Amino acid sequence: MTTISNVTEKQKVLVETWGCQMNVADSENMLEMLEGENYVLTNDAEDADLVLLNTCHIREKATHKVLSRLGRLRETAKNHNPNMKIAVAGCVAQAEGKKLMDQAKNIDILVGPGKISELPELISKNKTTGKRQLSVGFRDPETKKINKTYSQSTTAKPAIAGKTEISRYVNIAQGCNNFCTFCVVPFTRGREISRTIREIVSETSNLVASGAKEITLLGQNVNSYGLDLLQGSTEEGSLREPFVDLLYQVADVPGLERLRFTTSNPHDFSPSIATAFSDLPKLGKYIHLPVQSGNDVVLERMKRKVTVAEYWERIDWLRKAVPEMAFSTDLIVGFPGETDEQFADTLSLVEKLRYSFIYAFKYSPRSGTAAARFTDQVPEEAKTERLNALNLLQDRITIEQNQNEIGNHREVLFHYESKKEPGVFYGRTEQFRLLRAQSESDLVGKTMNVRVTEANKTALVGDLIP
Ligand code: 5AD
Ligand code: SF4
Repeated sequence: MTTISNVTEKQKVLVETWGCQMNVADSENMLEMLEGENYVLTNDAEDADLVLLNTCHIREKATHKVLSRLGRLRETAKNHNPNMKIAVAGCVAQAEGKKLMDQAKNIDILVGPGKISELPELISKNKTTGKRQLSVGFRDPETKKINKTYSQSTTAKPAIAGKTEISRYVNIAQGCNNFCTFCVVPFTRGREISRTIREIVSETSNLVASGAKEITLLGQNVNSYGLDLLQGSTEEGSLREPFVDLLYQVADVPGLERLRFTTSNPHDFSPSIATAFSDLPKLGKYIHLPVQSGNDVVLERMKRKVTVAEYWERIDWLRKAVPEMAFSTDLIVGFPGETDEQFADTLSLVEKLRYSFIYAFKYSPRSGTAAARFTDQVPEEAKTERLNALNLLQDRITIEQNQNEIGNHREVLFHYESKKEPGVFYGRTEQFRLLRAQSESDLVGKTMNVRVTEANKTALVGDLIP
């Protein structure tokens, strides 16, 4: 007979995640580590032993938002939960480091994205010594080599806010080597480090075994995946295009129904990726391909390393491979020096290309980046006007595109049931369009044929085809 002595009570952790999918994946990794340390998830700060803020630094007011959340947590701690510990992770932690700890005395632990594997150790040190803990950076201080400790385990991680159990993220690389002049990512997430194909396939298989049907491979620039692994490799030519190799191998995982990836950088986008779309039906008919601007002078100053004509070339490769390919993109308005005429080129590109949707942002200077030092910053009112004009144009195009879907038959993978309206299920078409359908039986995780009957800006409505 075995007796269990010292049964420790579970600790509760509240995880709040801001920003990109990479942060969602990092939060899942941190939660997995914490579960191993006897933590369970809670939604309530008043009840949490640990509050973990996973922060984003990509655009303005990032630090301000974190400080204001920390201010509110200080009140919660004072009034309801004096033992609450607070850990701040993510890109604001990396960018602000000790300065943030000086500004907010209620931070107990601060951990950068390159050091998340140290989180359990930092928590335990904080508990035993009572001292605040900080770990940021990408290089091992002793060996001066890039720290690889954040390559994560390949087990099926707990799903966290933002993803359903059906659709999960798998990180394929951290960091970026590109240094687009507006972007803070190479400073907050360091240089690109890829995981091995074996690790990625193994994590995908584990997630599929635990119920996932769709996997999205994540990296800041997935198309340059694995180039770091090639360096020093003796197997000359065996991995000529590592990202393409990866796609074919992950698509082979039995039980996986859909495979997506983000983010692609047009600079590293090759014709063989377009070919993979026609070879591998699991890749679907949709890609997010950020362009940032429709003007070559602006692209040059952004250091995007492609021209508008080269961007179109990639669109043509994809349209030839998959005629019904749907596209989305990221655009920045009011980049330093952008004139009205140059912005008009962005409008023309959007008008002509017909994205299914766009993410448009006002340029926001990030300290440490090259563009923040450019002297010809665009006034805020001009940025606002341009953003409104761009969104207005795209709204019209999105509605037109969605309405063109009416009458089509589409294959839809259903992700979740509406909480407010039982019997209403939401899924995505192969073109990544959101679709709702009613059903008496459970559709979650099922791929169904659907006839589109209605459409508005945000979603399609459809009837199941028996
Ligand atoms: N200002 C505005 N938008 C930015 N992005 C990245 N950095 C900035 C910035 N400094 C946008 C880009 C990128 C997306 C993730 O965020 O469009 O593709
Ligand atoms: Fe930033 Fe450019 Fe790297 Fe994307 S490719 S993360 S925009 S530096």
